[in-house]
Amino acid sequence: MVLNTRYLASMGILSCLATPLFAAVFQPKALSTRAAPYMTRILDTGTTFAEEDNGVWQLIDADGDGYPDLNYIKTSNTGTGTVEVHIASQKSDFKTRIWESGTTFGLENDGTWLLIPAKTGNLPDLAFIKTSNTGTKTVEVHIASGASGYKTRIQETGTIFAEEDNGTWKLYDYNNDGYLDLVYIKTSNTGTNTVEVHVAAGPDYNVFILHTGTTFLPETDGFWQLAPYSGPGTADLVFIKDANTGTGETEVHVASKASRYQDRIFEGGSAFTEEANGVWGLIDFNKDGVPDLTYIKYQDTGTRTVEVHVASGK
Ligand SMILES: *[C@@H]1O[C@H](CO)[C@@H](O)[C@H](O)[C@H]1NC(C)=O
Repeated sequence: MVLNTRYLASMGILSCLATPLFAAVFQPKALSTRAAPYMTRILDTGTTFAEEDNGVWQLIDADGDGYPDLNYIKTSNTGTGTVEVHIASQKSDFKTRIWESGTTFGLENDGTWLLIPAKTGNLPDLAFIKTSNTGTKTVEVHIASGASGYKTRIQETGTIFAEEDNGTWKLYDYNNDGYLDLVYIKTSNTGTNTVEVHVAAGPDYNVFILHTGTTFLPETDGFWQLAPYSGPGTADLVFIKDANTGTGETEVHVASKASRYQDRIFEGGSAFTEEANGVWGLIDFNKDGVPDLTYIKYQDTGTRTVEVHVASGK
């Protein structure tokens, strides 16, 4: 099931793409050549990591070559008694570990862990968005730098959000000003009875720059994120649905930032059946400028190792 071209045409978006201004800014070549995105697998591989589910798996560049590496933020049962960061490089086909260390953080699970692009150096910074039991009674952002080997905290702050966790928290440059903003994709108990996006501006997170409902009904059978789907610097809302789908495949659904998340600019199945043994994401895996569909499978794998599976966005 591939609705994107027909759907875009019906929305008048394809003709809009033909205008030179839009062309220059949004690279319509990339969009229009995506005839059947996510239908072709470009990678299925085991890794150096045994199957494990004690933390957060994430693809993000850690060696500076622009290709995302496999990162594991281990938040429980660690050898060091602290949260740990383990990284295997894409360049080694995920067979070589290029970083393993403890961090400045004690084992904490009342929030969201994620790695974010480094302020300095290649190793990503480690962020903890603490959503309950905080000192300030607000959601807090704590960041340790990759440059310090995760020993030094470069930000610890309360925010404008009261403690809450009914959805997905991210740090993402929503307004394209060079600072990561605090993004809350609220997927249940929402006032609008739709999925909502709330954003507080970085680097201080003291001012809201977006509160909006979206085209999506509350849904939690998948993974929510913002991604530069329609072009570099954009912040479209992506839902990767890996269970209870209409197609029987894992599906990708995208609503545009330009429409305040009211218009769906892509909906389609993929080369993957429904699968809920890992973490799904939309990220440019092969550095061709187009986000790909990635699946880090960390349990029930064929190889008995954590696996990385990728379907091309083109
Ligand atoms: C979820 O949202 C509701 C309504 O905003 C709030 O009362 C509740 O405390 C939230 N739950 C959690 C776990 O944050």
